[in-house]
Amino acid sequence: MAERLGRSAYGVERDPDRAAYGRSLLRTRSHLRTGGAKELGSLGFPRFDLSLTSPPYTSRQDPWNPLRARGGGGYSGDLGDLSKIFSGVGRLGKPGARVVLETSHIRPARYPRPTTFLAGDVAARLSKLFRPEGEIVIGWTGRPRYRGGGTCGHGQDHSYVVVFRTTR
Ligand SMILES: C[S@@+](CC[C@H](N)C(=O)[O-])C[C@H]1O[C@@H](n2cnc3c(N)ncnc32)[C@H](O)[C@@H]1O
Repeated sequence: MAERLGRSAYGVERDPDRAAYGRSLLRTRSHLRTGGAKELGSLGFPRFDLSLTSPPYTSRQDPWNPLRARGGGGYSGDLGDLSKIFSGVGRLGKPGARVVLETSHIRPARYPRPTTFLAGDVAARLSKLFRPEGEIVIGWTGRPRYRGGGTCGHGQDHSYVVVFRTTR
């Protein structure tokens, strides 16, 4: 989409198959790297105007950290890693660059209750790094297609796009 809009698009994805699929859609395939987002600063990417991402979802009860292949301290480890990753994102952003994430609260089938307010927890962490600008609520329609039910997945019919700006 970014390339279709005439922008230079760069990205990183840890899963090799997903990264390969993403590259297959790009004109400049070398701009999408396979690797961890923590290494963003060493990939030689230029400073950006807009960062767009949807970090992996996890619930408070999950013992794993979805940002790591192994281990990592569950939900609090995930939020801690997100803070570190987005500190790196912030260093790569131009002053006033937008940092935009799609996320949601979750009620996965494995742990439907209580709801994990993931979107709020993520937004609170990023508010310590960036200037909060707002949110866009996406209402998803159609038949539930994803794990955990709900048109958006994870037991939800809506998600949030949270918008921040770098301050430097
Ligand atoms: C919610 S999905 C979003 C996928 C894609 N951005 C999209 O919008 O379709 C989260 C993605 O983050 C990837 N991921 C998980 N941990 C990562 C990490 N440490 N660094 C980079 N990507 C990671 C997952 O493999 C997964 O593809």
